[in-house]
Amino acid sequence: MSVKVGILLSGRGSNMMALVEAARDYDIALVASDKPDAAGIAWARERGLATFTQSPKGIPKAEYEAAIHAALVEAGVEIIALAGYMRLLSEAFVARWAGRIINIHPSLLPKYKGLDTHARAIEAGDAVAGCSVHIVTEELDGGEVLGQAEVPIVPGDTPDSLAARVLEAEHRLYPHVLAEFVRR
Ligand code: GRF
Repeated sequence: MSVKVGILLSGRGSNMMALVEAARDYDIALVASDKPDAAGIAWARERGLATFTQSPKGIPKAEYEAAIHAALVEAGVEIIALAGYMRLLSEAFVARWAGRIINIHPSLLPKYKGLDTHARAIEAGDAVAGCSVHIVTEELDGGEVLGQAEVPIVPGDTPDSLAARVLEAEHRLYPHVLAEFVRR
């Protein structure tokens, strides 16, 4: 039986779309978001996927995360794939799903953890940039790296032009790494 994956996102969801389009070795059991109006949620709904949204506004973080956790469990989710999910998960949440949450980050980790990765890579004069899929631990962008893809940084690149090139690499890398991860 196929492993059930839950995807958490906050925005446009292009990585989620890539994971959905490539789903063969895994099933997308739930697409969940902290942003009820996220474009990715509308897309998932149109595709007939199960979705869940819970705004964290006005409720304690533990309550917000308990709602997400319950929805994931109810959907039978075994592995969580973060795809542009812009909130830090608490230590308690990560501990509950220890070793079963993965994330895609737009840099060649361990370089450029956190935000503004493309601007930092250009600023540093790097010749290559890229993306990494890693296991989520309590340390931000710090868990075991499962796979990476490189792209060149070319003269005249801006953070936006580089982000677009890296994003294409993300869409190829993430489904491939997730398929390998569910097999282990
Ligand atoms: C991607 O750049 C990803 O690396 C980062 O957030 C962005 C999400 O984009 N974690 P999308 O919502 O998947 O289009």
